Amino acid sequence: MQPVIVAEKVTKSFPGVQALKGVSLALSPGEIHCVVGENGAGKSTLIKILSGFLRPDSGTIAVNGRTFPYLTPHVAQSLGIQAIYQENILVPQMSVAENIFAGCEIASRLGIVNHRETLRRARTIMDSLGVTLPVEERVENLSVAEQQLVKIARAIAFEPRVLILDEPTAMFNVKETRMVLGLVESLAQRGIGIIYISHRLEEILTIAHYITVLRDGSQVACHHHRMERVDMNTLTREMAGKAVSAFQRSKASIEGEVILEVRDFRLTPQDDPLSLVLHRGEILGIAGLIGSGRTEIFQTLFGLWKKWSGEVWIKEKRVSLHSPQDAIRHGLGYITEDRQRTGLALGLSVAKNVTIPSLDDQFQGFFFPLREEYRIVEKYVEGLDIKTPSLEQEVRFLSGGNQQKVILARWLLKDAEIIIFDEPTIGIDVNAKGEIHRLIADLARQGKSVILISSENPELLALCDRILVVRHGKVVRELVGEEMNEENIISSAFGVTSDGDSSSIF
Ligand SMILES: Nc1ncnc2c1ncn2[C@@H]1O[C@H](COP(=O)(O)OP(=O)(O)OP(=O)(O)O)[C@@H](O)[C@H]1O
Ligand SMILES: [Mg+2]
Repeated sequence: MQPVIVAEKVTKSFPGVQALKGVSLALSPGEIHCVVGENGAGKSTLIKILSGFLRPDSGTIAVNGRTFPYLTPHVAQSLGIQAIYQENILVPQMSVAENIFAGCEIASRLGIVNHRETLRRARTIMDSLGVTLPVEERVENLSVAEQQLVKIARAIAFEPRVLILDEPTAMFNVKETRMVLGLVESLAQRGIGIIYISHRLEEILTIAHYITVLRDGSQVACHHHRMERVDMNTLTREMAGKAVSAFQRSKASIEGEVILEVRDFRLTPQDDPLSLVLHRGEILGIAGLIGSGRTEIFQTLFGLWKKWSGEVWIKEKRVSLHSPQDAIRHGLGYITEDRQRTGLALGLSVAKNVTIPSLDDQFQGFFFPLREEYRIVEKYVEGLDIKTPSLEQEVRFLSGGNQQKVILARWLLKDAEIIIFDEPTIGIDVNAKGEIHRLIADLARQGKSVILISSENPELLALCDRILVVRHGKVVRELVGEEMNEENIISSAFGVTSDGDSSSIF
């Protein structure tokens, strides 16, 4: 079969980095070609070139047998190439249907947008994807997973021949992920060529026909997975250039000083009250499905939202946390899951982004020596292996995973006593993940207390002393010692009943 798209020896440099060093890739209709690599390896750069968003410095791109030195977004689209990027492209205030057809509004003959027709067509697309989503709902009211489905629907509306997905499942739980993977496979069966990027190697190994491995902009391998069946170890070794070992922390039953106690905490009058204690030096895991209310609970605790009732005690003193500033003053830190809403100042440098919330207490005011700032930031950039040509680089030019690490560095520097990590390793490659796990374990060893919200059960099991499982905003189970295993987490998170039935997520 003739490939729909062929990239030949594509190179691309940015100031200070060569993001791609001669990468080639061919995709035929109905094929799923996965691209893997560490943060900053060049994956997003490659797909931005394939979709005309970036121009390569050299190399060619052939589409349907026609060769181009570069594409533009318009040309790529007219050739049937659709890409879904890591960055959000939806307009929160518009409805699902309006978002699907934004830029190609369905107008009547007089040029007026035809709302009825827009809704009808949006529904047809959703049906064809087998997804039930209210097309009239505003996008801002949807979960992250649902927004991702809207992005896919939007791409499908263009009837693409090539669909490119950059980390589509980063924020998804098991069930949602399975749904997207099923969707991708059925689109491939319809003859659409798919390029799929993910850090979740298990996903890659399930759906890939081909797997291209990038490392520092070079193409390390292209496996015909359906023929040779590569495994996880091979991929991680190729990505990192060395064998990667997972981190395992030795756990203790932690008693001792209670640092934080939450009593009868409710977000609304209808909620079941939630209580928990956190000890010095403890890592407390919060398991549960995405959408189970974990983020809301801990954001409320952190003062981002108003609670309905409940008491918060820090070191045996009752405190009121009405705002994040209050929380920070009492030694709390919150590292959020959503890197697009984290308050990363995209136009500021890496250095400034790391030091912003710490300026006040570390340096007593606005004036502090720049050299000192750089020395400290340098330490974290090295420790977390943040790939950036310099500390001056604007954060928006960093790869997705490296932006995530900048947020981590910020809070590590902030020196909070109680740190809440909300999905800290989403979008982070396997190697760096191990480093972040080591850092979190170090914090606990230094006597800090950590609350770790994660949907990756292996991550919780590797790090936590205790795990609370949350379902519908309520702690349904506490797991300690021998009870801490994947099966127990999953069964309590899904609320599996004796007949194996589980409650729905969407
Ligand atoms: N517009 C840009 N300006 C400057 N540098 C850039 C730009 N876009 C990407 N880079 C750099 O190019 C390299 C490759 O980035 P890219 O976004 O392709 O990585 P990635 O493989 O997608 O990583 P991640 O898994 O973290 O998303 C990185 O070093 C990044 O900082
Ligand atoms: Mg990327």
